[in-house]
This record gives sequence, structure tokens and C-alpha cells, in this order.
Amino acid sequence: MNTYGIGKSRSAARALLLCGAVTTCLAQGAHAGTAGHLAQGPGAAAHESDHRVAVLFPPLVKRETLATMRMHLQGLAEIQQAMAAGDLDSAARIASMKLGMSSMHGDQAQEEARYMPPGMRALGARLHRQAGEFAVAAQDAAATGSVRKAQDVLGRMMQTCVACHAAYRLK
Ligand code: HEC
Repeated sequence: MNTYGIGKSRSAARALLLCGAVTTCLAQGAHAGTAGHLAQGPGAAAHESDHRVAVLFPPLVKRETLATMRMHLQGLAEIQQAMAAGDLDSAARIASMKLGMSSMHGDQAQEEARYMPPGMRALGARLHRQAGEFAVAAQDAAATGSVRKAQDVLGRMMQTCVACHAAYRLK
């Protein structure tokens, strides 16, 4: 962390504080989520309390989708680490590469969208839009030193993951 200098250390400390706030927000968001079973705590995901809409994807599309999901989660982890280190340019780049539209190859997004109900499609589009919004906010933060906007967009982006997972599952 020393390599980032005093100013960067300070903004890294601020980023960490804000991360704490975002985590709290997310926990609250999960409890207020649309699916009631979320509020029942760990271990409550019994089959009969699963009210998610089951969406049928062809096996290959499903496999690709889940691989992309794991990359999204990896991206979020890397973004958090980059922000904690005060490296906002990396955070912006990771968001574009692992969560933005270009995180998917060729026509994968269109292929997946074909099988999605409209609500799911809208959440997918929202995620990619927020990834772009985050990349811009992180680049601004690199220039201004204020990470508040970027943290806010990151929190809302994670709420989009939560919202889609609460509402849909793949068959
Ligand atoms: C448009 C809807 C949607 C959005 C947005 C979304 N997901 Fe998913 N995700 C799904 C569905 C559907 C599954 C499969 C769940 C199931 O069948 O039980 C899934 C599964 C996953 C899995 C499990 C992968 C596996 O190998 O089984 C991970 C990890 C994941 N998502 C991470 C994320 C992260 C992180 C985000 C946000 C950056 C995100 N997802 C956003 C719909 C979405």
C-alpha cells in the first residue's frame, strides 16, 4: 500500500470505510428483497420455499451463462480489491472487461436474451449498463480522489445481481 503514497492511502482508507457501508446496505437490501425466503436466513432455501421463476435455457447456453456468472463474481472481488488499494483505473478496466457488454463473446448476450422473460432481460441489460456507469465513475474518481459515486454505483450494481438471483433460476 505504501507504493500508492499518502494521498492514495487516504482514499484507500475512505474506500474501505465505504465498502463497510455498502455491505450493510446490501444486507438490508437482501432482507427487504422481493423473494420472502431470503429473509428466513441461512439454510432456509428449502425446495418448497423456492418461488423463483424457472427459465429453460438450452444446455450449452446454460453452461456459458453460468461460466459468465462466475466471471462476474470474480470481477466484483477484483474490483473491491483494486478499490481498497486505491487503484481506480484497474477497477474501471475490470468492470468493463468482466461485467460490461464486452465481457461476453460475440452474440452470447443476444443468444441468452432470446430465452429470457422480459423482466430477466431488463435486469441483464441493467447490469451491463451499471458496469459502464461504474467504469466512468471509477475513472472520474481516479481524477478527483472522491470514490463516493463509484461506491454508490458498485452497490447498486450488486443489488442487480441480488434482484435477478431472487427472481429467477435456470432449468
Ligand atoms: C439477469 C439475471 C442475472 C443477473 C443480473 C445476474 N445473475 Fe448470476 N445467475 C443468474 C441465474 C438465473 C443463475 C442460476 C441460478 C440457479 O439456477 O439456481 C445465476 C447463477 C450465478 C452464479 C452461480 C454460477 C454457477 O456456476 O452455478 C454466480 C456465481 C452468479 N450468478 C454471480 C452473479 C453476479 C456476481 C452477478 C452480478 C454482478 C450476477 N450473477 C448477476 C442470473 C443473473
